[in-house]
Amino acid sequence: MNELMNHTTDMGQAEMFSKAWYNEYFRRAAESPAHSRFCKAVYGKDLCQHGMMDIDEMDFLASLLKPCEKVLEVGCSNGHITEYLHEKTGCDILGLDYADTAIAQAQERTRDKAATLNFQCEDLNQDELPGSDYDVLLAIDSIYFTGDYNKTLTKLNAKLRPGGHMIIAAFQAKEDSDPDTILLPGHTRMDEALQTLSFRYVYHDFTPNVRNHWIKNYESSRTLQSEFAAEGNAFLCEARMAENGWFKDHAERETLVRFMYVIEHNVDLMLG
Ligand SMILES: C[S@@+](CC[C@H](N)C(=O)[O-])C[C@H]1O[C@@H](n2cnc3c(N)ncnc32)[C@H](O)[C@@H]1O
Repeated sequence: MNELMNHTTDMGQAEMFSKAWYNEYFRRAAESPAHSRFCKAVYGKDLCQHGMMDIDEMDFLASLLKPCEKVLEVGCSNGHITEYLHEKTGCDILGLDYADTAIAQAQERTRDKAATLNFQCEDLNQDELPGSDYDVLLAIDSIYFTGDYNKTLTKLNAKLRPGGHMIIAAFQAKEDSDPDTILLPGHTRMDEALQTLSFRYVYHDFTPNVRNHWIKNYESSRTLQSEFAAEGNAFLCEARMAENGWFKDHAERETLVRFMYVIEHNVDLMLG
């Protein structure tokens, strides 16, 4: 995400992607008809998304989850995606995010599902993650914010039961300074971290989806710009525009790829 941060414009007082910025984003997004229309147009369904996972990729992800599995999702935002996966799969899910406004929205909305769907405010970088022996650890476009893939993968791995797995959805862009191979399956920064830590894993390629996503994201932000402004939510549109030009450029130059990594629990890493 650092590459992207260098290309985003100043979004006002809160630094883009900070906790305060995400709180402001979800405070507005939860009530915004323009944001809902944007999500429907861009992702194929409004789940108040802020990542890059379209509904086809989401449904593929759902097909990997089994009823009653114990799942921990990190970076769940205001939990619409979590709720969708819970509904579709019958999993028992705990969603975590550091944006307390988003977590409060999720808790309030899903109070009647609390037997198997819960949300908690935690900072993935600073806090001890709650619970243990998860069947699945899920991270949808949230791993970038941790800075250090190796450290985060080790932290998440420690929360899995033996035989459990992580599912991580992440993009990789190629900058001028990167080797040409960085876009190849098995050679992204995530692959590098997984291989360094001797994880066994498979990947699923969602590159066409992510390229299509950013072109739609770019176009829809412009189509809906006046609607966002009319409801006093220019912030939301500007937030999208601050990143979608950079991504659309990479999508058009074919220097952007995306993979869903399905990663086996690594017992050896637990033993140190
Ligand atoms: C790009 S959004 C993706 C949200 C959602 N998974 C989706 O696909 O729409 C990243 C999410 O990660 C959360 N996040 C960022 N840094 C975090 C941290 N250190 N601890 C917990 N959550 C964090 C943000 O608040 C935000 O909800």
